[in-house]
Amino acid sequence: MSGQCPIKSNVGGGGTKNRDWWPEQLKLNILRQNTSKSDPLGTDFDYAEAFKSLDYNAVKKDLNDLMTDSQDWWPADFGHYGGLFIRMAWHSAGTYRVYDGRGGGGHGQQRFAPLNSWPDNVSLDKARRLLWPIKQKYGNKISWADLLLLTGNVALESMGCKTFGFAGGRPDTFEADESVYWGREMTWLGNETRYADGVKGVGGSGVVDADESMKAEDKTKSHSEPRQLEEPLAAAHMGLIYVNPEGPDGNPDPIAAAHDIRTTFARMAMDDEETVALIAGGHTFGKTHGAASSDNVGKEPEDAPIEQQGLGWANGYNSGKGPDTITSGLEVTWTTTPTKWGNGYFTSLFENEWELTKSPAGANQWVAKNAGEVVPHAFDASKKLKPTMLTTDLSLRFDPAYEKISRRFYENPDQLADVFARAWFKLLHRDLGPRSRYLGPEIPSEDLIWQDPIPAVDHPLVDENDVATLKKEVLATGIEPSKFVSTAWASASTFRGSDKRGGANGARIRLEPQRNWKANNPQQLAEVLKALEGVQSKFNSSGKKISLADLIVLAGGAAVEKAAQDAGHNIKVPFAPGRMDASQEQTDVASVGHLEPHADGFRNYGKSVSRVRTEEFLVDRANLLTLTAPEMTVLVGGMRALNTNYDGSAHGVFTTRPGQLTNDFFVNLLDTNTAWKASGSDKEIYEGIDRKTGQKKWTGTRADLVFGSHAELRALAEIYGSSDGSEKFVKDFVAAWDKVMNLDRFDLKK
Ligand code: HEM
Repeated sequence: MSGQCPIKSNVGGGGTKNRDWWPEQLKLNILRQNTSKSDPLGTDFDYAEAFKSLDYNAVKKDLNDLMTDSQDWWPADFGHYGGLFIRMAWHSAGTYRVYDGRGGGGHGQQRFAPLNSWPDNVSLDKARRLLWPIKQKYGNKISWADLLLLTGNVALESMGCKTFGFAGGRPDTFEADESVYWGREMTWLGNETRYADGVKGVGGSGVVDADESMKAEDKTKSHSEPRQLEEPLAAAHMGLIYVNPEGPDGNPDPIAAAHDIRTTFARMAMDDEETVALIAGGHTFGKTHGAASSDNVGKEPEDAPIEQQGLGWANGYNSGKGPDTITSGLEVTWTTTPTKWGNGYFTSLFENEWELTKSPAGANQWVAKNAGEVVPHAFDASKKLKPTMLTTDLSLRFDPAYEKISRRFYENPDQLADVFARAWFKLLHRDLGPRSRYLGPEIPSEDLIWQDPIPAVDHPLVDENDVATLKKEVLATGIEPSKFVSTAWASASTFRGSDKRGGANGARIRLEPQRNWKANNPQQLAEVLKALEGVQSKFNSSGKKISLADLIVLAGGAAVEKAAQDAGHNIKVPFAPGRMDASQEQTDVASVGHLEPHADGFRNYGKSVSRVRTEEFLVDRANLLTLTAPEMTVLVGGMRALNTNYDGSAHGVFTTRPGQLTNDFFVNLLDTNTAWKASGSDKEIYEGIDRKTGQKKWTGTRADLVFGSHAELRALAEIYGSSDGSEKFVKDFVAAWDKVMNLDRFDLKK
């Protein structure tokens, strides 16, 4: 607690915790986020409905007026908040990374730790507070998540930049997202562990479970050239959105900086052209702030004294604001017109020669040699300054590939305007999901490939009778029913709650790259798809129509129903038609490639890597599927009983009647008469031995055994493995299955 003795609280939640005692313990907390208990708006609140009643143009007008309504408590540079608000929106969206779809502006997380206190987000606490009167005025009709991004858009428009459009539709969250792996360094701006070759982190892991021996090993490997950034990270330092503006680790080398920029922007799904446009377009506006040393700056919001009311970084230098502001510690104004869109950035970049200098705070930056004083001062109209740039700006001129693009933009300002507008739109909407989630009057009509487009439904949907007929046809194909379960899972489980990509809709499982993913067992998948296509063409030739996307899900449901029936349970698996099939042309192979699972414990695919254990991959996937711990448990148990391992192996199939929907997985895993031992030194596969006879009964993976070893998962397994558990097991399994099948059905009211 700032300014007081570091006393550890001895009330609610204080004291030494399980995480302190056993930092390597598997963490299930990420499966308990965003429940109705933490959402004050309650389960009845429908953000899309609320947004529809928003006076969108009135909000835009208020935002536009705010741009030039400078407040004494945080005065606007050049009399315009545009630069600050663009940076706020960019930093909100710019944490997105392609590998797991986490980060990004889709959940309004900039309001919560750690992002609200990241060193790269200094002064954005003030930007959000400037917005509070507008948020307060429109209440729940616009979320913070939407507002932060819309404000950036309005800022651009207010300074003459034509945007590509805007869509709302991002409901707020009300707690910090613990699932995002931001790295494991223990110091802000550290990067000593993320540049160890070939390492990976997943949701919920991170600094809390830093392993000292691993860190020591990493240090010896770090900074090997060219350096490899740990997956899934998309920033070069802990607490930065992307890269160090002074150059890699402060080394003012624009070419080395270009390497880091290219890596980090690619992980946000941006190619070279988009990257150049974004940096140049963004730095057309505003200025950086480094009036004096950051020693003058107080604690970040999370650690600031209570009277600061959620603001942080109190600045003791002179007035602490306006011309005395300290944000990055750099002091640069890029263009002669920092509140007007134009090509001034490239004019300055190419028409000046650059000399290394220091900001008043002592940071490396560049000043134009022999240039006149042509750049305005943010607060004193009588003063002019020399043009300045950051090391990372010079990368756009001195990296050969960037230079080509930059020159083209310099000579063709209309191309810059177009690429910037599209890249900015992508930046803000990359994690909003399919177009069916887009809200508001400014949605662009053009379909964009990164939106994973799916054609609109163009035929009447199947009715109850059709569904019954199709189920019969599917089960009569002669294909083992468990293979329909595997295929439906493979199709639907690509969904990621983080960026709302993937899912069964579109039937991309039959296209590149998904049909060849190892996890999907391509040979088996081809066999199943062929059989389903047969059923589909027979049905469709009758004049009615079903998409393959729907049929894959329907077949999975039919197989689950049969498996339940064979085990003596009469249960119906719900089915909601309405999916459509995307084409290969509508599918960006590289981008969809990011949805491929490294491991999927639900079908016993994949295993531990140096920093992530198999069971952590399982929990990570469960989190991306928005599952709770009980849902994850019942699904794994059920899928093992149904015999759906990706390769048909018997690991975890703890039953003598595979293919039936029984709770045998739990009963047998919890059987005290079985002793378990690792069958290899990598401790991935285990053998279950009958204690009395010494006979091998079962084999299982870490994704199986964790349900017996982890105390909380064991508690859940006990519910399903008890004598009164089998009805509940079947019911819960079907509910969880249905949830996964419909995760991407934003067109259905849930
Ligand atoms: C400001 C770095 C990319 C928009 C800044 C500041 C730094 C920085 C250090 C100064 C913060 C302060 O002291 O107030 C970088 C780096 C980038 C990058 C290293 C990537 C290599 C972008 C992008 C955009 C953007 C992609 C938007 C599309 C802005 C704006 C400001 C700014 C508008 C001015 C803020 C103000 O006027 O208060 N940037 N930036 N930047 N950045 Fe970037």
